[in-house]
Amino acid sequence: MGKDVIIACDFDSAEKTFAFLDKFTGRKPFVKIGMELYYAEGPSIVREIKKRGHKIFLDLKLHDIPNTVKKSMAVLSRLDVDMTNLHAAGTVRMMEAAIEGLTRPDGTRPLLIAVTQLTSTDQESMEKDLHIEKPIADVVMHYANNAKIAGLDGVVCSPLEAGKVHETCGEKFLTVTPGVRFADGDIGDQKRVMTPAEAKKIGSDYIVVGRPITAAEDPVAAYERCVAEFVG
Ligand code: C5P
Repeated sequence: MGKDVIIACDFDSAEKTFAFLDKFTGRKPFVKIGMELYYAEGPSIVREIKKRGHKIFLDLKLHDIPNTVKKSMAVLSRLDVDMTNLHAAGTVRMMEAAIEGLTRPDGTRPLLIAVTQLTSTDQESMEKDLHIEKPIADVVMHYANNAKIAGLDGVVCSPLEAGKVHETCGEKFLTVTPGVRFADGDIGDQKRVMTPAEAKKIGSDYIVVGRPITAAEDPVAAYERCVAEFVG
């Protein structure tokens, strides 16, 4: 898969999601389904969006004992999603189990991406709450490297970390980056942002864009602008 823009469908119902997706009459964007929508509507929302011809990143961030993650990943794999994820904090063994569960009998599987440290975690909370006392940038790269060792395809990271992740884990290791804003747009609650063009320059493989598209007056035009800036 090449570079692409993934729209974060952060809606709380199928109705709102379809009202949004109905606007896209031409190209079918790659969409991200997160916990809110999945927990509201269950696996049927994945099947229905897939049936409409979209690629799906199922963002459920699994983190449990290896056996449970393996079995849960097998279920998600049967939903025929294109990409899913887990927390690298679950250990290399858990990530290896996830790959096993995700791999279908014919040897294919969805892309598997790891969350390293959440961007809501900072140095202070990591030290105080998690008792991890290394610099957060080193922790992120260590977790990314663990994901690579376990056989995962890449990590979710800030666009600012994408270059370093590629340096550490190789150019083929995917970087999926949220926190993208247009140069003339609202930042909202994101702290460290980049434009789609900057994310492209720094080497992000996929950008995850929510409100700059979902809350735009013309979401299709905003999506096309993102694609034009990021994919070219
Ligand atoms: O609306 P916005 O473009 O900020 O949406 C970004 C999406 O990426 C949301 O679904 C958010 O949960 C997700 N995300 C993020 N930062 C992370 C991981 C995921 O913004 N570190």
